[in-house]
Amino acid sequence: MAVIENSKVAVIGAGSVGTAIAYACLIRRSARTIALYDVNQAKVEAEVLDLQHGALYTGSSQIIGGADPSVVAGAHLVVITAGAKQDPGQSRIDLAGTNVRILESLLPVLMEQAPNAVYMLVTNPCDVLTVAAQQITGLPDERVMASGTVLDTSRLRQLLATRAGIAPNSVHADIVGEHGDTEFALWSQARIGPVPILDWQPSSTAPERRPFTHAELDEIADTVRNAAYKVIEGKGATNYAIGISAARIVEAILNDENAVLPVSIVHRGHHGIDGVALSLPSVVNSRGVAQVLDVRMSAQEDRHLHASAEALKKVQEDLGI
Ligand code: LAC
Repeated sequence: MAVIENSKVAVIGAGSVGTAIAYACLIRRSARTIALYDVNQAKVEAEVLDLQHGALYTGSSQIIGGADPSVVAGAHLVVITAGAKQDPGQSRIDLAGTNVRILESLLPVLMEQAPNAVYMLVTNPCDVLTVAAQQITGLPDERVMASGTVLDTSRLRQLLATRAGIAPNSVHADIVGEHGDTEFALWSQARIGPVPILDWQPSSTAPERRPFTHAELDEIADTVRNAAYKVIEGKGATNYAIGISAARIVEAILNDENAVLPVSIVHRGHHGIDGVALSLPSVVNSRGVAQVLDVRMSAQEDRHLHASAEALKKVQEDLGI
């Protein structure tokens, strides 16, 4: 399928995350039409107006929205942000039961309006909710995904780029697994340009920069794993970075890019993982997740991956999904 003409993304939920995604899509011209849906009519209409008032300076995207589900009609991609959000100190997993119940009532309404769309969960815990959404909709696995660790990977690459004095898009490193406390960095595959990260040497003209050590990489991964808690502690929520990260995935889908991104999808045997959704580097295009790449892992990384899968499986079992 070529680039989707007259592409439409529907963002469900006009809270701080949903509006940040809509705003990022508007600024980045990610879609021809961006529809914002929320049951709170006053809120969603005000958010749509506020976005429309700036649209003159952003290019050809149009923003529509409202509290009637028909605003979702014909969307090629539905991005779900509706649900309870983390309070300071709360983990993403703590939100699972409440947000599964919200999906159970929300998804049938959305499917009526956009039966052929790709569905992307941003609401947390996004991995567990992806399993629930696939079961509720009965859609093929490839069309039910989550933003997963795309945001965490952005956090990781930003930290590495700043430390090394290298452009972020020349740092190749991924966070994989749960979008949450059991996520981990695929250091065995991490590179600065084509150079494995532990072999990288700073230029002689920057004596203050040093090569990376294992201990420092562990510290960086820890900083990424706890990044959201730090932001939530200070401002009550995260929204800008997830907004931009989600817009990046929107573009990979609506532009049929075949981009490799660490999104989350329900795995059926990959790396020995079955019936659990978590993030691995995957090919993303207009069909959703077209392929999960077979990425080589160290023995330790394989252990981390299975620990992540086990942790998620336990949450699913507690919820009966
Ligand atoms: C975060 C939220 C989106 O990591 O889970 O900021």
